[in-house]
Amino acid sequence: MLDQTTIDRIIDAANIVDVVSEYVTLRRAGANYKGLCPFHDDKTPSFHVSPAKGICKCFACGEGGNSVHFIMKMEQLSYIEALKFLGKKYGIEVEDKEITPEQRQQLNEREAMFNVNEWASQYYHDVLKSDIDGQAIGLAYFRSRGFRDDIIEKFRLGFSLDKWNALATAAVQKGYKEEYLIKTGLCYRKDDGRVNDRYRGRVMFPWFNVSGKIVAFGGRVLDTRTKGVSQKYINSPESNIYNKGRELYGIFQAKKQIAKEDRVYMVEGYTDVISMHQCGVENVVANSGTALTEAQIRLLHRYTNNITLLYDGDEAGIHAALRGTDMLLAEGMNVKILLLPDGDDPDSFARKHNATEFKSYVEEHQTDFIIFKTNLLLKDASRDPLKRAQLTQSIVYSISVIPDEILRSAYVHECAELLQQDEAMLLREISKNKQAALEQMRKQATIEQERQQRLAERQNAEAITSDTTPPPAGTIESEELPPDFLPDLPPETVQTPVTPTPTSTTAPSSFFHGLERMIMTLIVRYGEQVIECEDEAGQPLAIPLISFVANDLQGDGIQFQTPLYNLMLAEAVEHIDNEGFVASRYFLNSPNLEISREAANLMTERYQLSKRMEMPSEQELMPDYIFHLMLDYKFAIINSEMKDCQAQMSDPAHCEEAMQRYMKLSIFQRELAKKLGDRILIN
Ligand code: CTP
Ligand code: MN
Repeated sequence: MLDQTTIDRIIDAANIVDVVSEYVTLRRAGANYKGLCPFHDDKTPSFHVSPAKGICKCFACGEGGNSVHFIMKMEQLSYIEALKFLGKKYGIEVEDKEITPEQRQQLNEREAMFNVNEWASQYYHDVLKSDIDGQAIGLAYFRSRGFRDDIIEKFRLGFSLDKWNALATAAVQKGYKEEYLIKTGLCYRKDDGRVNDRYRGRVMFPWFNVSGKIVAFGGRVLDTRTKGVSQKYINSPESNIYNKGRELYGIFQAKKQIAKEDRVYMVEGYTDVISMHQCGVENVVANSGTALTEAQIRLLHRYTNNITLLYDGDEAGIHAALRGTDMLLAEGMNVKILLLPDGDDPDSFARKHNATEFKSYVEEHQTDFIIFKTNLLLKDASRDPLKRAQLTQSIVYSISVIPDEILRSAYVHECAELLQQDEAMLLREISKNKQAALEQMRKQATIEQERQQRLAERQNAEAITSDTTPPPAGTIESEELPPDFLPDLPPETVQTPVTPTPTSTTAPSSFFHGLERMIMTLIVRYGEQVIECEDEAGQPLAIPLISFVANDLQGDGIQFQTPLYNLMLAEAVEHIDNEGFVASRYFLNSPNLEISREAANLMTERYQLSKRMEMPSEQELMPDYIFHLMLDYKFAIINSEMKDCQAQMSDPAHCEEAMQRYMKLSIFQRELAKKLGDRILIN
């Protein structure tokens, strides 16, 4: 367990813009930053980062939090591991004793797998550099391909000895468990129970994910041995940490440059990526000769809109270029393509040129993908009417998936000319395609809606039986949001006294939760601020908001129905007198993950905009607002209790008692209503 001081130091040091920028290209938007959300398929920048508050939030999918929450989600780490991750990044010593065998077991499986992969990559790398065979065979091979030392380091290339279990033995000696050697695919278990190395006598390409963790390996046979060996590359099997369709080889080494140049080059193989780096072109990734997946495209889209596909000019290259490209277009990427000349692949081409030459060649020869496809298919189909019709269909489809309308019509214009077709006819075809796609989307939306409804019904049913309803996810329309993070006040609450939803007297909890959430929002944001109120004797009193709320609730013997909020309030009351206490910082830095998460949510929660409320800032309105909110809250509680009484009155055994209580409550209710009414008049 980390101590609070260390947590504070780490969170204070971790600049949220810095942290998020490692994964998302951010652009400034007023005092904040915006980018494409890394947690869902985001087409418009919905992911907001507030450096002043130290938090981030996607206003489309709701994901976000402080820098620790962000890293937890992004890197799939536990809270403590995320803190350590950030501690390391910012050079803050996190005391972590030598791991004992028991503790090692406790590390979750993914972490254990990352650990063993990290160690193995280092092991293969050391063998390459220091072992006699490693040098004579592996290093000699890389040298023969012209790979420089700095590049061998940068990609941590290695060599696996041609022995049955060299790695397995070394790993077990170091305390790594066979279980994880097998789960990562570094080794496999034979029928007789022995554990063998998967890679033997191969040069090794470790595969870094976007944040630099090793998720897989590719092992290539050496040229001299290629004969008789069926597979040129052996790759790690899919695992808990390696989903082939989500990873791109080279992304870790390329991401900064991709963002900087606002373009990514897509190639097929490991060696293409490495040779291009060696010649000085660093914004390059490979998809290992398979079709691009949506997840891979999304990963790239976080850094740039522009992609150039680089392939050999042969049949296979052309085929590869056509695969999966519509998906790139549909994701709104600008796609260009370049077929390299005369039997060159990016690897061999890069070895013959320097970065400037490489880039200017690309600049001059890359063609827009749609035009490329049109020309290519035209050549193929010039005389055959059936083929021409198919070609038109195929191109029309590619154009119809492009989200940008202006771009779409530009393509229609150009392709109509190339295909010598009527532009209006192409447009009709495209609109047919779009119509069909829309229909498909509608169907999916209906299915999703029904699913959501069923889910909500189930949750409602659960809420009736328990009063710890989870907070509703903050789903908010992204278009309406000003760049600032401050929410606006819910107008309904200010204008009229609320009445509990009449649907059910037994399930008021989510309704109360809404009010409690608003109260807690103010506490998290402004808890330390002093407001002026009256004490029991009616004397003016200036106390922090936290104390006001706590006293007000206690005075009426009320507790929040949401246990987490009771805990937060109690903690705040306990610390409010500490010097320099700031509620937002206190909650956001809490070692209790539930608290820090909820605080981040409440910090970023945004309510419906009220025209009337746009002028003064939330902060200015806050004192008045909290009085309202507390009255509303009590009003709601009383209403709910009165309903209960009414229900009990129909039972002769409890009728008398219920009546009495009902009378008392209605007096209280009138008092409250009067106070609320006064407020409303003042406003
Ligand atoms: N590939 C693979 N398994 C194979 C062949 C290829 O996984 N049996 C993947 C590898 O990721 C490889 C890419 O497809 O990098 C491209 O294949 P290829 O061009 O054959 O390999 P290169 O990496 O270019 O290797 P070399 O230049 O040594 O031929
Ligand atoms: Mn190749």
